Amino acid sequence: MQRLFIKTYGCQMNVYDSERMADILTPMGYTLTETPEDADLAILNTCHIREKAEQKMYSDLGRLRDRRDERRQDNNDMIIAVGGCVAQAEGGEIMRNAPYVDIVFGPQAYHRLPEMVARAKRSKDMKEGKTGKGVGVIDTDFPAESKFDTLPNTEVSRAASFLTIQEGCDKFCTYCVVPYTRGAEFSRPAKEVIEEARHLAKMGTKEITLLGQNVNAYHGIPPLGDKDWNLARLIREVADIDGIERIRYLTSHPSDMDQELIDAHRDVPQLMPYLHLPVQAGSNRVLEAMNRKHTRESYLEILERLRVARPDIALSSDFIVGFPGESDKDFEQTLDLVRQVRYAQAYSFMYSIRPGTPAGLMELQIPEEVKSERLQQLQAVLNEHQFDFNKACVGQTMRMLIERKGRHDGQLSGRSPYMQSVTLEGNERLIGQVVDVVIESGHANGIRARILTDEQVLV
Ligand code: 5AD
Ligand code: SF4
Repeated sequence: MQRLFIKTYGCQMNVYDSERMADILTPMGYTLTETPEDADLAILNTCHIREKAEQKMYSDLGRLRDRRDERRQDNNDMIIAVGGCVAQAEGGEIMRNAPYVDIVFGPQAYHRLPEMVARAKRSKDMKEGKTGKGVGVIDTDFPAESKFDTLPNTEVSRAASFLTIQEGCDKFCTYCVVPYTRGAEFSRPAKEVIEEARHLAKMGTKEITLLGQNVNAYHGIPPLGDKDWNLARLIREVADIDGIERIRYLTSHPSDMDQELIDAHRDVPQLMPYLHLPVQAGSNRVLEAMNRKHTRESYLEILERLRVARPDIALSSDFIVGFPGESDKDFEQTLDLVRQVRYAQAYSFMYSIRPGTPAGLMELQIPEEVKSERLQQLQAVLNEHQFDFNKACVGQTMRMLIERKGRHDGQLSGRSPYMQSVTLEGNERLIGQVVDVVIESGHANGIRARILTDEQVLV
């Protein structure tokens, strides 16, 4: 048995990829370990979206190297691999900066990991043997064959699963590296997605989150000759699968939020009343410089239609503060939009220059102190709204998916329909089940609940 450690940075697409890496390495005799110290193969699945994530990767890499050097004294080697978006964007640089890395591979190449690992092992044997020189294995191709065609079905049972249905992006927001690292937009065929969803349901999954960098641009080729499937159609089909009680999708672009998809929020009970719909900023001037293709007004109008379709929908967004040229007045408009929408949760970031993106070259870059001050101001308002949302749930009954053990003994944790994190007391046998609960208290980062029925314990 060999031990595999995977650290995942960044978005849910990377979480999905890491899970699939584990699936493909299992037949080679690898089992997952929580700690890098004793791993035979350590993979860092990296994110390139902001500079910070990239710096973190380099410091983690250094630590892995030190650990490996210690272990080598006992003849106990470790293969170090870097995957994901930094690998895709800067594969050659990683090999130069960190020549001790054995494998560098991009997000479209990880189905070839077994072959890469075998090559790295051979190369290591040569290094220690006659030639004295090993070569790193690098695979950042966008191969003609899709990784999805060769990945094995997962053997792991999860209450909630991610399922990538779309990758890449053609939108070219001026701050973003995704179109360069993940490439052009690509949708998986509908039949393939449905088969994977059926398999997940068979393995015990109750909730599926359909993933894509631009998931609502989904247009998968259909199983039989009719026109391309959009996301709304796919959601309706996944809802028909036995055992799937909850569906979510992530991440959407406002300009692909069509009426059919909005209607699905009204018609499909399995589609959860929660939507992450990033607006990024509240000023039209900034939105235009970001090349967002929507305005403050058109975004708010979409939310209006969503609320008509599903009055209780909880909303979430991403925000960037300190985009080049953002004035105090522009920033005020972001705060104003936030106060108008009252998000149930949100993610906010200081603008970070990314190599090769148009915004990196724009004049009027904003000083770090100003960015930091704006971020604090924005987060104070967002946190207040999140807390209010959680408190407003007290006394309500909800269906809750129990996903895992909680931090303390006898505690369980899961998610509400509105994506809040929930802690409750209960028997471990409830993990993987949907149960009725009543909300007892609301906190800054989640809610506490009490189970109403324990019929599930009895069956
Ligand atoms: N700087 C800061 N935040 C960024 N994001 C994307 N690119 C950048 C950048 N250069 C944020 C956006 C996006 C989220 C995933 O990350 O808000 O929606
Ligand atoms: Fe980060 Fe984007 Fe890659 Fe996800 S797709 S890991 S957010 S760079």
